[in-house]
Amino acid sequence: MHSAKASSEDVAHGFFITFEGGEGAGKSSQIHRLAARLLARRYHLLVTREPGGSPGAEAVRHVLLSGAAEQFGPAMEAILFAAARSDHVEQVIRPAVERGEIVLCDRFIDSSRVYQGVTGNLDAGLMLEIERVAINGMMPNLTIMLDIDPAEGLRRAAARRAEDEGADRFEKEMLHIHQRRREAFLEIAEAEPGRCVVIDASKTPDVVEEEIAAAVFRVLGQQADAERREAAAR
Ligand code: TYD
Repeated sequence: MHSAKASSEDVAHGFFITFEGGEGAGKSSQIHRLAARLLARRYHLLVTREPGGSPGAEAVRHVLLSGAAEQFGPAMEAILFAAARSDHVEQVIRPAVERGEIVLCDRFIDSSRVYQGVTGNLDAGLMLEIERVAINGMMPNLTIMLDIDPAEGLRRAAARRAEDEGADRFEKEMLHIHQRRREAFLEIAEAEPGRCVVIDASKTPDVVEEEIAAAVFRVLGQQADAERREAAAR
């Protein structure tokens, strides 16, 4: 996680953007590229990731990604992800948004909905309840979904890994599970078009960067207009 300060002129209120997608979709490098563009435009910025992003959540991250919790079943994992998320929201995300910063977060609720809810076969009602408690109203303003064929994504993830590092608990799963996850992310985007924008992550990194920036600056522009109208009406 890192935080960068500059004098933002465009939005007065904070803004919360999440990045979602399967393994190897390029989320972290695209977050980096978007952060550089936002800083160039003098926005206040905070970049973070899940699971983790706060000291409490980082402690839980290791338990989840090592696979130590796998033997206790998907409900246990879902609750651990949610516990980590709650700490991250209250300690890091909400305070930053309240300070007027733009928060970029690598994975958030949609990863739990898809990895634990859909491919963990957990009850949708239970998942909603856990999500409600974990985020306590902190819904993303915008979610960028990076969509890629999982065969290509896993190939990229393997190529990116250092030789001494094995695949994590979730990367190791079978291709058909990753395919189901891809469909589930797309289903969420279809159900929540006001929040989600799907970007084709098989294009070159420069093209993907342009498309993400266009989506983000469009939504930030809408927010700035709304804030101006609000101020004029006062
Ligand atoms: P990470 O090493 O951060 O990789 P990446 O985001 O680049 O894939 O691994 C996070 C893993 O945890 C990833 O496989 C997805 C999984 N995950 C869940 O299953 N549920 C969640 O709620 C979150 C945030 C992540």
